[in-house]
Amino acid sequence: MAVSATMTLMLVFGHISDTHLDGGERALARTRRVMAYLRGLPLDAILITGDIADHGAPHEYERARAELTADVPVLMLPGNYDERSAYRKVMLGHNGVAPINEARWIDDVLFALCDSSIPGRDEGLLSAETLAWLRGVLSGTDAPVFVCLHHPPVPLHNALIDQIRLAESEKLAALIEECPQVVAVLSGHAHTAAVSTFAGRPLLVAPGVVSTLRLPWTTAKELTWANTIDFDDPPAVAFHVLDDGGRLTTHYRVVPTS
Ligand SMILES: [Fe+2]
Repeated sequence: MAVSATMTLMLVFGHISDTHLDGGERALARTRRVMAYLRGLPLDAILITGDIADHGAPHEYERARAELTADVPVLMLPGNYDERSAYRKVMLGHNGVAPINEARWIDDVLFALCDSSIPGRDEGLLSAETLAWLRGVLSGTDAPVFVCLHHPPVPLHNALIDQIRLAESEKLAALIEECPQVVAVLSGHAHTAAVSTFAGRPLLVAPGVVSTLRLPWTTAKELTWANTIDFDDPPAVAFHVLDDGGRLTTHYRVVPTS
């Protein structure tokens, strides 16, 4: 897809997060609206950074398997609302409770899909097993890599969500600092379209499909878990564009009402 005489797009992909499927009709309707929008676009892939399900029940993954489909690869990883054994069984067709880490190639770009969930907890952590796996993946290629995980590794300035971000993020930072081929870190969990930096790379947070995070300066009320979630804001998506010069550009778009 040539956009000028001098620049070619290497990859364009959609990034959404936190579908919380079977957490009610609202979650389902919004997921369908977002997926229908993305399916109509000439993307190379769709990335969903966790909280696929709302209680981690097998029937929720059956729903996810039916709804989160496209003609292009749909890459997923688990979040704190997911449950490894049900996710594995329904989404991947095998048993087990080990972290669900996957390396997936889209053309010449590698997606390192990391499991940052801790069973039974809301905060995130990359286990020693996952960090060792990621080190192996990164040492095996000089190709561009996106490191993807559910929990943002930095505070985003909402005290509630910041308490349940990725713990021990310095271990991930140390690994990425050794690996110049890492283009960016992509996450979800916070239900807010946010941009920061981490280990000298862009950190790009996908907005939540199911709801949006209120921020301390967008409401006069003191934020609590009861009021920090906005269910009225429309769902949105991120589009990440990697060009053949290695530059990443991200656009965020509200999903139009169909
Ligand atoms: Fe989450």
